[in-house]
Amino acid sequence: MKKYLVIGNPIEHSLSPKLHNYWIKKNNINAIYEKKLIKVNEIRNVITDIKNEKINGINVTLPFKKSVIQYLDELSIEAKSSQSVNTVYKEDKKIIGHNTDIAGFELSLRHINFDVRNKKVFILGAGGVVSSIIFALNKMNASKIILSNRTKQKAEEIKKNFNKLNVVNWGDTPENSDIIINATSVGLKEGDKLDIDYEKIGNGKFFYDVIYNPKMTNFLKIAKSNGNFVENGRMMFIYQAHQAFTLWHKIMPEINNEVIELLYK
Ligand code: ATR
Repeated sequence: MKKYLVIGNPIEHSLSPKLHNYWIKKNNINAIYEKKLIKVNEIRNVITDIKNEKINGINVTLPFKKSVIQYLDELSIEAKSSQSVNTVYKEDKKIIGHNTDIAGFELSLRHINFDVRNKKVFILGAGGVVSSIIFALNKMNASKIILSNRTKQKAEEIKKNFNKLNVVNWGDTPENSDIIINATSVGLKEGDKLDIDYEKIGNGKFFYDVIYNPKMTNFLKIAKSNGNFVENGRMMFIYQAHQAFTLWHKIMPEINNEVIELLYK
């Protein structure tokens, strides 16, 4: 039986096992997908297990998407450009690191036929997934990307990878944004509120929250009540898993309402 894992810290909340095991069963694959809480000094052992084929593939989540890179033999273009790896597997004796968050984000927008071309984007947060979002937005020809993070230094670090990126102070809301993305963890807890100037942004804009549980964060609730379009991160999550699954098993699993509802059961 093949074995797959998601590693992270914390990991309890991860819904990857639920989704992957659902598709494994649907496609009659002899495999299991588990979650494993690890410390940073245990990454090496997990990669050795992939080398020895005790484990066939892993997903990597916070906070190891960057620190895993040093143990890998090769990176895909996406992983290299974003310096972020969320999917690892062995191919021709080499351990390969790939990033499916980029495609996950892009496909989540294509899923709702949202066209990013020539749009001005304002991103809040500088956590593990932000470089993937920026890479995807550049690929989709956004005209301008503005980044703001409570700890400005982290936004400046990301800018080193993307020369066209604009960094603004936390609390500043830029004018004329078409797309506003919450990539902070603010919203995971009930009552969490982001300090942004909704009036300045106006209406008819597109608000995207990377958080999908709860379905509607205050960020999205307020945006919606102001007459904006809103989308949460559930399709990004599903598509990043879909890409990893296809890579490992060479089967494209189905995405339907049952799959989407799995995240909320
Ligand atoms: P990591 O930073 O380990 O990659 P993450 O969950 O991806 O984890 O990122 C958390 C993001 O939410 C960060 O951008 C964080 O801002 P800091 O870099 O300043 O910590 C942001 N965040 C978390 N709590 C916040 C709060 N109360 N107000 C504003 N931003 C917050």
